[in-house]
Amino acid sequence: MTDLVAVIIPAGGSGERLGAKIPKALVQLAGKTLIEHAVANMAPIANQIIVAAPAGFEEQFKDLLSSEVTVVTGGLTRTLSVKKALALVEKENEYILVHDAARSLASTDLAMRVIDSLRAGEKAVIPGMPVSDTIKRVDGDNYVTKTPTRSKLRSIQTPQGFTRKLLMKVHTSPDDATDDAALVEERGVDVKVILGEERAMKITTMNDLAIAHNWLIPGADKQIRVGIGTDAHAFSQDSNRALWLAGLYWRDEVGVDGHSDGDVAAHAICDALLSAASLGDLGSNFGTSDPKYAGASGSQLLSETLSRVTAAGYSINNVSVQIVGNRPKIGPRRAEAIAALSKSLGGVSVSVSATTTDGLGFTGAGLGLSAIATALLIHNPR
Ligand code: CTP
Ligand code: MG
Repeated sequence: MTDLVAVIIPAGGSGERLGAKIPKALVQLAGKTLIEHAVANMAPIANQIIVAAPAGFEEQFKDLLSSEVTVVTGGLTRTLSVKKALALVEKENEYILVHDAARSLASTDLAMRVIDSLRAGEKAVIPGMPVSDTIKRVDGDNYVTKTPTRSKLRSIQTPQGFTRKLLMKVHTSPDDATDDAALVEERGVDVKVILGEERAMKITTMNDLAIAHNWLIPGADKQIRVGIGTDAHAFSQDSNRALWLAGLYWRDEVGVDGHSDGDVAAHAICDALLSAASLGDLGSNFGTSDPKYAGASGSQLLSETLSRVTAAGYSINNVSVQIVGNRPKIGPRRAEAIAALSKSLGGVSVSVSATTTDGLGFTGAGLGLSAIATALLIHNPR
């Protein structure tokens, strides 16, 4: 039988620096509390899990967690919370991992690597990351007393793994420490540092919570909004009608009928931008009944749309449009089209592609042009 592992999760802190009105472990992160995340990540490797809850919140913790998780009342310090949980560890567990609830996203894989190292013979194993800041020791008056060599420093995380016997022994000491390894070091026992992971970061402030959220839902911090738009116009019977497409005038091509200049590419982009910003569509913004927009050029409508999405608090990440039709051939003027559309949108990234429809549909029959566009907007928090 492989050696069994107990996991102790001190979650008895109040989370003062986070500033929520509830204990930090009960704060929500993408639909689950921090303690639920921590327990879920450790459960696959645990034979027993003991959580130290803040006094008065034990029942709330029990309601959130599976009945297989033991909940104890935490102590006044982290060290005391660990001690209380330690008293309930079953003897059948060869190893104990101590893991901060505040490092809610530390992975099962990291816990596995800590255990592997214990199984390979280490008695105390802790994850650590190289530090990027230079760290200085200061005295009580804030004068620097020492600058340890940065390459020899590690920023320490949890879960920290120990043999049960060693952790029990070091916790007989009344000393307080910010992590359990410190108690082991005091006894002169070797503590092995293995490589930690970024997602084992400690959630201390609101900014940390936002970073953790971004680990779970990449891009969530950016509030990305996608939009779609299409447009179609029939080629005119009037062979003198000018063709405007993708912000360009196309000499020797017959234009399309329409209330405006009939630029399907520009119109599809406007619709995509308005839809991404939930601002309605071309019709509801620049209706045919409004004389102001009769005969409006595609680039005028793009500029006006840009002002509206900007006023609504969005910036444009990129815009993409595909023109569907037999002619004109877009390829030779693609760069010009991109430049013209981008200019009307304040210089954003635009891509222009084109296709025929293999003779099918009204575009295939050469009766008209259509376009389909997508836009990606980023909401700028005020
Ligand atoms: N902890 C604990 N018992 C305490 C204090 C802290 O079990 N008396 C736990 C916390 O719940 C947390 C871990 O120890 O999971 C690390 O502590 P920290 O990140 O400092 O959390 P808090 O003490 O809750 O936060 P703050 O210091 O901002 O109040
Ligand atoms: Mg604390």
